[in-house]
Order: sequence, then C-alpha cells, then structure tokens
Amino acid sequence: MRVVIAKDYEDMSQRAARIVAGQIYLKPNSVLGLATGSTPISMYKDLIRVHKEVGLDFSEVITFNLDEYLGLPISDEQSYYYYMFQNFFNHVNIKKENIYIPNGIMDDVELECKNYDDKIQKKGGIDLQVLGIGTNGHIGFNEPDIKFEATTHKVKLDDETINANARFFSTIEEVPRFAISMGIKTIMHAKKIILLASGENKAEVIFRALFEGITPEVPASILQLHQDVTVIVEENAAQLLKPKLYHS
Ligand code: F6R
Repeated sequence: MRVVIAKDYEDMSQRAARIVAGQIYLKPNSVLGLATGSTPISMYKDLIRVHKEVGLDFSEVITFNLDEYLGLPISDEQSYYYYMFQNFFNHVNIKKENIYIPNGIMDDVELECKNYDDKIQKKGGIDLQVLGIGTNGHIGFNEPDIKFEATTHKVKLDDETINANARFFSTIEEVPRFAISMGIKTIMHAKKIILLASGENKAEVIFRALFEGITPEVPASILQLHQDVTVIVEENAAQLLKPKLYHS
C-alpha cells in the first residue's frame, strides 16, 4: 500500500487524475471502476481538462460505477447516473455503450446485481478502481459489518450514510434507504485501486482503515490486503496518519 499525502484537495485530485490518465495512456481500452460523491469531483474536472487540452482519448475506455441508489430513475438529479454524466461523461469522448452503472429501478434487483458482475468479468475485470471512503469506513456502499466475500448486491444504507448524503437532497426523507453496490469481493478483484480521502471528517476513519485491524466494521480496512493500492490523502484527512508514516 502506498500512502501519499497531498497538500490540498486540488493536489489530491491532480495526483489521482494523473494515475487515471497514465492508466489510459498505457492501455487505451482500460476498464475503470468509478466513484461518485464530493471527493472525486475535481479529479473528473482534471481528466476533462487533460482530454480537452492534450487529447486524452476515452473512446475505448470502459467504465463501471461502484453504486446506484435504488428507486431513483436516471433522470433524477440525485441519481449517480445523472452525476456521472453531468460531472464527467458529457465532457469526454467516452462511448455510451461502454458506460455501465447499476440500474436502480430494475424489478429484479438480484438479477441486475448478478448481470453486473458478469459484465465486469466479460470485459476482463477492472484495471483501475477509484474509491472514496465514507465516514463510517464504507467503500462503495459496503456499510460496516459487510461480508467481505460479497459481490454486487442490494444494500441497506446506514443511518450515518443517509445523514451524510442528505446534504445533496432537499430533505433527509428523500434520501433513498437502499442501493445497489459492487461488493468488497468485486472491488478487491480490481488490478489496481486508488483510494481518495479529503477533509478533517475523514481523518479518523482513514487512520482506522490503514493502520488498525482488518475488520468488517471498517470495510475499507480490507484494502490492506490488496497488492496494488495507492491511497491519496489530503492534508486535513491525513492529520492522524503523519506520526505513523514519518516515524515507522
Ligand atoms: C460513491 C461511493 C461512496 C463515496 C463515499 C464518500 O460512489 O461509493 O463510497 O465514495 O460515501 O463520499 P464523499 O466523497 O461524498 O465524501
């Protein structure tokens, strides 16, 4: 596990964008696993800039998003589908048929989950997975006490996640209670992973995830067992990491 402390949010985002861009330069038909939320917004902006300024080519890139709320149609501004097109896909030359996001309004959720894992496998697996982390240690929507062997599945969101994500909705009642998420097993099969953390409110959980025991109570802690993870932590989120990194 490589841990990089970035001097601020922009620095974290640029470092992440460089890794993603490098992946695409080296393998133009890369399969990327992508996250939503506040954390990767500027990374997407940087990738759009690299596309516009120096022609980073997304025409063969394939993407699989980590998760989607259950019950939100793709036209809903809070759906992750909407987020991805607004913040990224509409601004680069990715082909629509190469974009995969779990469908949050399928009747047969189990089938949707199974098909999602099958599609990832058929495309050769994820080359590079981008992750954020919840204040409760979730990655994707794999909430505390998740089974590490889970593949893509339906999840009940934690109260902490509902509270944290309420900032994107007009009222907390509107936050969906369920989602579809890639499972820990799906994520752990990615060949490379970058985990991003920004803001003081992530300091404690990123410390627990990287330096305490591997436990389903902190789902991100499983990443300690992955052979190729780069963790890029912005200064404020890295407050508790520094003593460990500089004195070990
Ligand atoms: C998003 C996702 C979540 C977020 C996490 C952090 O697709 O899977 O795990 O990465 O909730 O969210 P932000 O970045 O909004 O703090």
